[in-house]
Amino acid sequence: MAEVLAETERLRLRTWGPDDREEFTRVTNTPAVMRWLGGVSNEATRDAAFDRIDGFQRDYGHTFWIVERTKDGALLGFCGLKRVNAPGGEPLHGQFEIGWRLREDAWGQGYAKEAAMASLDLAFGRYGAPHVLAMTVAGNAASQGLMKRLGMHRREDLDFVDRRFPNPSDINPAIVYRIDAAEWPAAREAALA
Ligand SMILES: CC(C)(COP(=O)(O)OP(=O)(O)OC[C@H]1O[C@@H](n2cnc3c(N)ncnc32)[C@H](O)[C@@H]1OP(=O)(O)O)[C@@H](O)C(=O)NCCC(=O)NCCS
Repeated sequence: MAEVLAETERLRLRTWGPDDREEFTRVTNTPAVMRWLGGVSNEATRDAAFDRIDGFQRDYGHTFWIVERTKDGALLGFCGLKRVNAPGGEPLHGQFEIGWRLREDAWGQGYAKEAAMASLDLAFGRYGAPHVLAMTVAGNAASQGLMKRLGMHRREDLDFVDRRFPNPSDINPAIVYRIDAAEWPAAREAALA
């Protein structure tokens, strides 16, 4: 039975159920969505990623949750909180990390911001995070735009080379943004405006 972590105006953030892997793959494993994530994934890579998502929920009580549109139950993608575990980012390991991935036909409608704001509310409320990091790559303008829109700050001093990918390449190095708990109330107001 899925646990609902948050309900927003248009969305529900919930834990993964048995049928979600297939539907998530169908709607998000596309060239556009995976452009800055190493390209369309194969089954072994996906299964390992899904297992890590389940592992975060089991170990920490939070993960990259399913984002579901309330009005029609459509699975839009994921958004939520994990812990940094990227190979190469060892100094950051264990810290809270926010992430997002939505199907292309849902882009540009404010869904990611809505889901990310709920995730930051959970991070600084329910989970007591001191700060939250976000990671992307230089070319991913949408993801960086969202980080800035949420009031996250670019932290070049925290950037690192992700050992899973060629470096330099268009998916390396990983670039880092951060927001502290004390900054979230004002950033939240600004993000709503
Ligand atoms: C990143 C992503 C989740 C954004 O989703 P979205 O629902 O389109 O984002 P929103 O509509 O909520 O936009 C929120 C803010 O993000 C920024 N943003 C969104 N798309 C942008 C773009 N293409 N360029 C620059 N900024 C952008 C804007 O500041 C926007 O706020 P505004 O509408 O008030 O200007 C989506 O593009 C995606 O899933 N990309 C593929 C997967 C991916 O790369 N994930 C991140 C890996 S690090």
